[in-house]
Amino acid sequence: MGTTAPLRLAIVGVGNMGYQHVQTVSSLERVVLAGISDVDQGRLDRAAAHTAAPRYLDYGEMLDKEKPDAVLIATPHYDHTGMAIEAFRRGMHVLVEKPVGVHGLDVRRTIAAHEEAKKKKPGLVFAAMFNQRTYGHWRKIKALIEEGELGRLVRTTWIITDWFRSQSYFDSGGWRATWKGEGGGVLLNQCPHNLDLFQWLVGIPDRVTGFASLGKYHNIEVEDEVTAYFEYQSGAVGHFITTTAESPGTNRLEIVGENGKLVFENGELVFHRNRSSMLEFLRVSTTSFDKVECWQIKVPFQHHGEGGHRLIIENFAAAVLDGSELIAPAAEGLHSVLMANAVMHSSLNGHRPVELPMDEAAFAKELQDLIAASGFTKKTATPGGSEDMAKSYGR
Ligand SMILES: NC(=O)c1ccc[n+]([C@@H]2O[C@H](COP(=O)([O-])OP(=O)(O)OC[C@H]3O[C@@H](n4cnc5c(N)ncnc54)[C@H](O)[C@@H]3O)[C@@H](O)[C@H]2O)c1
Repeated sequence: MGTTAPLRLAIVGVGNMGYQHVQTVSSLERVVLAGISDVDQGRLDRAAAHTAAPRYLDYGEMLDKEKPDAVLIATPHYDHTGMAIEAFRRGMHVLVEKPVGVHGLDVRRTIAAHEEAKKKKPGLVFAAMFNQRTYGHWRKIKALIEEGELGRLVRTTWIITDWFRSQSYFDSGGWRATWKGEGGGVLLNQCPHNLDLFQWLVGIPDRVTGFASLGKYHNIEVEDEVTAYFEYQSGAVGHFITTTAESPGTNRLEIVGENGKLVFENGELVFHRNRSSMLEFLRVSTTSFDKVECWQIKVPFQHHGEGGHRLIIENFAAAVLDGSELIAPAAEGLHSVLMANAVMHSSLNGHRPVELPMDEAAFAKELQDLIAASGFTKKTATPGGSEDMAKSYGR
């Protein structure tokens, strides 16, 4: 049963992303802003141009005084865990920005707090801002795989090197690209979307081997170039290649199954459809070099063409108000965090393959050691002009 009263949502963190969320929420019918919070008075004042909602420097005070129904967390990564737990303790629904946490233990603590809070309030919703899950092309690929069009999966390769970021981007926030402030680089900031989609489309790998270069092209201490190898018990393999230092970059996803190959690149989805199973063909063919007859099909899909954040917020509100199914339950965010952690864990340990589920405590300790050993001095500067966040989302 739906309710007609709008959702009273508070936003914590009104920096780049949170500022956009303030503007988005101000345009929604079923969500009203109950308050905004940021430790930076200038950011609060900037957001005030778009909302008359009360402003707070202390988010805990905002939660206690305004008593919102729900909280959207758009702060630096380490804070996601503690803030979500504080909201759950108060019986509030949570929509958290990606990544859900910095490492597996933190994500599990948040999920446990949600489960605990649900004992008192069973309908309590916990969602994650995986806005790319709303994109038409990814949804179409998911539907084709689930309908069995590809048959047995063999290989998935994603070259996602168009997350180009300048040094100025990394210098724009003291927390960015440091072990202490952010907990990682391209894997933890830009790629949570792609890692989430990877596991959403073809499943969570069983074994991960990683090669990550730390500060190879930027003056940062975390990874800015990564190649990962994923292995599945089914025999399927995956490759994940990313960087923030390549321009022009590539965004090409290939998913190969026995019945053909799906390729998404440059906004086009093409299905190279085998007339029969290639795995069967290679067993029974009596010729040495013939290939399976294959047809190229340009696959139609409908894409809304926007960032998708509005749709995730609306879906979150519908989940709270009407009991609708979530597009991105936050508990699923554990998988992309563990995939990122496993790549780093492997890379930091001589590229030794890491089995998933991994030793999460060992990785959390490794992160602490990196923080303790860090001699990196962060230089921060304000980037010139106002930044267009739409350029940051990726496709
Ligand atoms: N979904 C997407 O498309 C997308 C895009 C960009 C960023 N993000 C995510 O959004 C989050 C924020 O990133 P950003 O680029 O906006 O960073 P940002 O640095 O621009 O903004 C973070 C804000 O949080 C504030 N803050 C820090 N500690 C706080 C506290 N204790 N209480 C209240 N406010 C606090 C900071 O002052 C800052 O204004 C990150 O998780 C990031 O990964 C998501």
